[in-house]
Amino acid sequence: MRRLVGETTLRPRQLILPMFVGEGLDAPRPISSMPGVVQHTRDTLRKAAVDAVNAGVGGLMLFGIPATRDAEGSGAVDENGILNVALRDLRQELGDATVLMADTCLDEFTDHGHCGVLDADGAVDNDATLRIYAQMAIAQVEAGAHVLGPSGMMDGQIGVIRRALDEVGHKDAAILAYSAKYASAFYGPFREAVDSQLKGDRKTYQQDPGNGREALREIELDLAEGADMIMVKPALSYLDVIKAAADISPVPVAAYNISGEYAMVEAAAANGWLDRERTVLEVLTSIRRAGADLILTYWAAEAAGWLD
Ligand code: PBG
Repeated sequence: MRRLVGETTLRPRQLILPMFVGEGLDAPRPISSMPGVVQHTRDTLRKAAVDAVNAGVGGLMLFGIPATRDAEGSGAVDENGILNVALRDLRQELGDATVLMADTCLDEFTDHGHCGVLDADGAVDNDATLRIYAQMAIAQVEAGAHVLGPSGMMDGQIGVIRRALDEVGHKDAAILAYSAKYASAFYGPFREAVDSQLKGDRKTYQQDPGNGREALREIELDLAEGADMIMVKPALSYLDVIKAAADISPVPVAAYNISGEYAMVEAAAANGWLDRERTVLEVLTSIRRAGADLILTYWAAEAAGWLD
């Protein structure tokens, strides 16, 4: 009877697995605050991606960790930069068997750890950053990404990327806009995952956790600029924002079940304080119930296996 009348579905195809690839690694590097998640080598990335696709996940979101960084994040636009090289590997391995997505942001590549380049006063320079995002987006599509994920919260980033792609003929490349991205403490473990160099915070470009209405304004701007999908991030502390986004969005809504949300459950489960599988499925189901069509989650491949 519960199965017959259940309101919310959770299917493998709705899950997207974020993956990390490190430049120059000869073995996968564990991320201590995210037990079970690693920085992959190029080789182990291919294998883990194939496994995730075989488990039924709907997509992969790739992050690259370069061996060296500079002020402009030049490794992000370089066709031989780790993220672009790994995208080429995965596209070659997987073809169109899954939706291959790339993080279109500079924070992994800059030596100061910000999502954009800095001006003479050390503040993030929005418009100079947009010019680099346009180059980065083209490089990622040419390396094999089907979908770009601009996560830097620069004003105008969706429109600039869309125009840049169209101008060089990449009309079919889609944009998953990180529209409502909050300046969250829950990103803590991710900063370890990408060896983040950030000293300060991202409050000049990410949203105040107290603001709900502002999220809708950000979403409307991204839709007007050409977003094909939008995202709310983090997920669990922002279920109301997901709901509000789902109520107004004409395009699919994604939610990112982020590193800190993963770490909390893993830590409690490791202590025997929570039933891991039940908790994970309850978390993912609640994000779907709130209105997310798609969920980025580090449990994607494992949960897909449980759902079969
Ligand atoms: C920025 C980016 C971040 C995450 C995804 N893309 C970190 C940040 O904004 O500081 C966080 C993901 C997570 O915590 O799981 N490129």
